[in-house]
Amino acid sequence: MTNDRGQKEGGSDGAANHLCCLSSIVHRHVSGRLVIATHNPGKLAEMRELLAPYGIDAISAGELSLKEPEETGMTFAANARIKAQAAANSTGQPAFADDSGLAVDALDGAPGIYSARWAGPDKNFSRAMETIEQNLFERGAGTPQQRKAHFVSALCVAWPDGHLEEFEACVDGTLVWPPRGDNGFGYDPMFLPDGQTRTFGEMGSEEKHGLPPRGKGLSHRARAFLKLAEACLDRP
Ligand code: IMP
Repeated sequence: MTNDRGQKEGGSDGAANHLCCLSSIVHRHVSGRLVIATHNPGKLAEMRELLAPYGIDAISAGELSLKEPEETGMTFAANARIKAQAAANSTGQPAFADDSGLAVDALDGAPGIYSARWAGPDKNFSRAMETIEQNLFERGAGTPQQRKAHFVSALCVAWPDGHLEEFEACVDGTLVWPPRGDNGFGYDPMFLPDGQTRTFGEMGSEEKHGLPPRGKGLSHRARAFLKLAEACLDRP
């Protein structure tokens, strides 16, 4: 797993550089066709957009009529692995999955891996945001400091032979009420990333992801994706 700590370990001392080189040798390159193991149209659009500059031919689990596996993992990384492995095994091709969600400090990390479920079977995120707001109200979390939250994204590329590439990243922010903006999906209108004046719901996708050459990665998914790109993709 490549995480923030792991990246910083590739510093200037000799041993760390040596480890860094070794780990880049064992990463497996992604090229050609990649199955995107999601049935979430919002995520699919974002993943396609992220992969487009790298010449990846992305086809979605929905387009291939793949069954959605049960997400039985207890972490984002475990659930990303379940989805990527299920798609790789049933298609015989490398598959890419994201598991992500919103973790709210004052709610002990909820909704976390259950972020999609809080929207119910009809995927009503207005109601899910109201549920979060109600919970924050009940806990007396009124100030921005008490309303800290993080979006987390775990990415996994799985191959049919069992090889895995896994990356994780997050973005810190504050929850605002009422929600602001109609862009993006899920909890975007409630999430104000640190250092920004607009919620993800008020940003276009270019601004939300903040990708190079103009940015260094803003959204959780873009940050995790940049780690994956660095390790496994051809430069655009
Ligand atoms: P899953 O990863 O498909 O299990 O679901 C993750 C859920 O977390 C989504 O349905 C959204 O509700 C929420 N989520 C994940 N990433 C984002 C994001 O970038 N913006 C808004 N909501 C998100």
